[in-house]
Amino acid sequence: MNKKLIKEVKDSFLNQFKKKPILVFSPGRINLIGEHTDYNEGFVFPAAINKGIIAGVQKSDSTFCKAIALNKSDSYEFKLNNLKSLKNGGWKNYVLGVVFEILKLDLKLGNFNLVFAGDIPEGAGMSSSAALENSIVFALNEVFHLGLSKRKMIIISQKAEHNYVGVKCGIMDQYSSMFGEKKSVLLLDCRKINSISFKIDFNDYKLILINTNVKHQLSESAYNNRRIVCENISKSLKIRALRDATENNLNKLLKKIPNEDYKKALYVIQENKRVKETVKAINNKNLKMIGLLLYQSHEGLKNLYKVSCDELDFLVDQTKDNPYILGARMMGGGFGGCTINLIKKSEVKNFKKETLKAYLKEFNKNCSFYSIKLSEGTCLIK
Ligand code: GLA
Repeated sequence: MNKKLIKEVKDSFLNQFKKKPILVFSPGRINLIGEHTDYNEGFVFPAAINKGIIAGVQKSDSTFCKAIALNKSDSYEFKLNNLKSLKNGGWKNYVLGVVFEILKLDLKLGNFNLVFAGDIPEGAGMSSSAALENSIVFALNEVFHLGLSKRKMIIISQKAEHNYVGVKCGIMDQYSSMFGEKKSVLLLDCRKINSISFKIDFNDYKLILINTNVKHQLSESAYNNRRIVCENISKSLKIRALRDATENNLNKLLKKIPNEDYKKALYVIQENKRVKETVKAINNKNLKMIGLLLYQSHEGLKNLYKVSCDELDFLVDQTKDNPYILGARMMGGGFGGCTINLIKKSEVKNFKKETLKAYLKEFNKNCSFYSIKLSEGTCLIK
């Protein structure tokens, strides 16, 4: 947890509202493998990380609520009986969305003040949005004694994103942010919404993230569009979700659906299998196999599901001839953000230097590197 950030949020809250806030940490996440499988009720393999959102919240005596986003030097005042999603509202819609979903459950919420700040780079695909949603619902649950379980809280966070932000996301981000465990990766079954935690020992290797520092337009509409394609194919196959499909089933539709749609469903079926194969590889301590599965995942995301971009592909390609890197792939929704790389610890320094140079030459901009620690999920800061 970022002590400096905690202090900033606390001091700013005291300064603004002359009251001590309750403080909540809610982490971002990485995902080892299983991309775009969550809304197909499949498997994913995420982990909460030591970067996230710190939120300070307390009841307010005034007739409205006030939210302050420290990183953005921005604030917003609103009334609980007059909530609406804002056009191009950015961070405000996450706050309003969570409040709206809580009120929809007929829970008793009073006016409150909120100050938050984060250290997850925005648009990096590390889920700053789920961290923000979870931090708010968790804090409001504490302050107003709403009695919500963590499971209910993540559904509220997810619905806020669906209904206020307009992204029809799966449950991976909210789940891993809320239920994360130190040093563990969670094998999450997105149909049952429960997980098994794995303490993975990468020995001489570690995971690092490389941020392309780009986020291409249309990523949200492309995301929703992928989800619709998957749901339509499930309907044609008369199954509940693509989790239940096999390549054989899908092949029956080959001539009946557009080839691009076929490829997308094929990707999801294969990626879901890869998650299970990763579990086997972990149990067999076969790091090479994990690396191979990461590369295969990237190929699928790039060529079949088509959610990658030049910058991500370039960073993955950079690793391919490097004997010290076992695997790499794009991570998260796509169209920018980070790659996740399994690299020999002793080689990180060299690799960073070379990659920075190559990326700068190719795109005339810098990429950024993050070493991450796997952390606990959303919690009160005592
Ligand atoms: C985004 C969504 C998640 C998931 C990933 C892709 O992060 O919020 O629900 O679908 O993309 O795996």
